[in-house]
Amino acid sequence: MKIIIVKDYEKVSDKAFEIMKEVVSGNPEAVLGLATGTTPLGLYARMIADHEENGTSYARVKAANLDEYAGVGKDNPNSYAYFMRKNLFDKIDIKLENAHIENGMALNADAECKRYAELLANMPRDIQVLGIGSNGHIAFNEPGTPFDSVTHTVELAESTVRDNARLFDRIEDVPRKAFTMGLSEIMQAKKILILATGANKADAVYGMIRGEVTEQLPASVLRKHPDCVLICDEAAGSRLKN
Ligand code: PGA
Repeated sequence: MKIIIVKDYEKVSDKAFEIMKEVVSGNPEAVLGLATGTTPLGLYARMIADHEENGTSYARVKAANLDEYAGVGKDNPNSYAYFMRKNLFDKIDIKLENAHIENGMALNADAECKRYAELLANMPRDIQVLGIGSNGHIAFNEPGTPFDSVTHTVELAESTVRDNARLFDRIEDVPRKAFTMGLSEIMQAKKILILATGANKADAVYGMIRGEVTEQLPASVLRKHPDCVLICDEAAGSRLKN
């Protein structure tokens, strides 16, 4: 894994954007694997600014998101579908029918997982953007998820519920179940960009890079990927320095 440590969140976003722009400029039909969460917001802001200022077009780009809360509809402001429209898709020229995410309201969860897994198999990602959980999860693949997993439903770890509570009025409102892309599908992307910022990610980042490759720390699977770049700020990378 290539490791880039920069000063702060803004610099992480700058570097991530540089790599994203290379992919999109090199291939106007690129397939992007995208993530929600606080970490990629700076990257998305730069993509929007670049679209507005330089006309970079996403009209032929396709996107597939990592995960979605179960039982939360796409027009609910807490859904990841809504998050993506608000923070990126509504502000660039991507066609919404080309931007895919699991349907949190699917009545048959198994059928929905199968549908999404088939979709992913037919649209290999050129680049996959990832954040990392403080427990080392990627997407909602919590510790213990098999490396060969495909799209599945998951009970969120208590630490994930606590981490995500900041985005809800009350911790009781955080959904406990979600749909997530599996680890083997994440690994299929041609290039992976994992972003980590803030001191609360330092242990997970250290474990991912220096610990064992183990299903107990899902992000460690990325060490097996031929083209994965970690971009972190000094706080998240603090334990890598010695
Ligand atoms: P965050 O989430 O970007 O909001 O920190 C990352 C994650 O849980 O994968």
